[in-house]
Amino acid sequence: MSHEIQILPSLLAADFTRLGEEIAKVEAGGASILHFDVMDGRFVPSISMGLPVLEAVRRITTCQIDVHLMIVEPERYVEAFRAAGADSISVHQEASPHLHRTLSLIQSSGAKAGVVLNPATPVHTLDDVLGLADFVLVMSVNPGYGGQKFIPGALHKVRQLDQIRRQRNLSYVIEIDGGVDQTNVAEISEAGCDWFVAGTSVFRSESPATTVRELHALADSGRQLLA
Ligand code: DX5
Ligand code: ZN
Repeated sequence: MSHEIQILPSLLAADFTRLGEEIAKVEAGGASILHFDVMDGRFVPSISMGLPVLEAVRRITTCQIDVHLMIVEPERYVEAFRAAGADSISVHQEASPHLHRTLSLIQSSGAKAGVVLNPATPVHTLDDVLGLADFVLVMSVNPGYGGQKFIPGALHKVRQLDQIRRQRNLSYVIEIDGGVDQTNVAEISEAGCDWFVAGTSVFRSESPATTVRELHALADSGRQLLA
């Protein structure tokens, strides 16, 4: 079962001196979920933003907020990110040895629970949690920075996840993150993806609102080719 297509602007690429205005632009383009990247300088080399910024964003938008935890020991922060306003929270497979417990913890906090795969991590490592996860996030760049180039191998993973979803009659959302733009969004959609994170292509464009609409239309066209 596939889900409604969503373009998720990634705030990492927004102008932080004008976060409110940046969010208003993508809302005007029809975005209803924002992607919020949390980096700790340990799981990934960089440090991005955390709880106080999430709380501020929560106050100025009615969008859902999708929190992507690129941190070690993510289970320690689930409750805090939920309390600060996260509607969905994803943790990396590579950072979560007790993935089953962590996904359950996210769900019991009231948020949707996602699991993320780095480009080097195969889909089959998730066999035993796919029945539990609300969504699976496929990284199409190595996490840590915005503005990187899409790694085509991610398409195969999206296809695999869509196939498994049909075969096992599961209903997780498939999300992609990294290097998504007008040149590849239709093809990713055709592979079976539902949610598309887009940072640089949206916020560094002349009109983020128009870009969100364009990406959505292109993803729709790809979806129509999905058998
Ligand atoms: C990368 C982050 C992404 C990033 C995507 O580690 O997880 O969400 O913001 O940015 P773009 O769309 O610029 O690749
Ligand atoms: Zn992300």
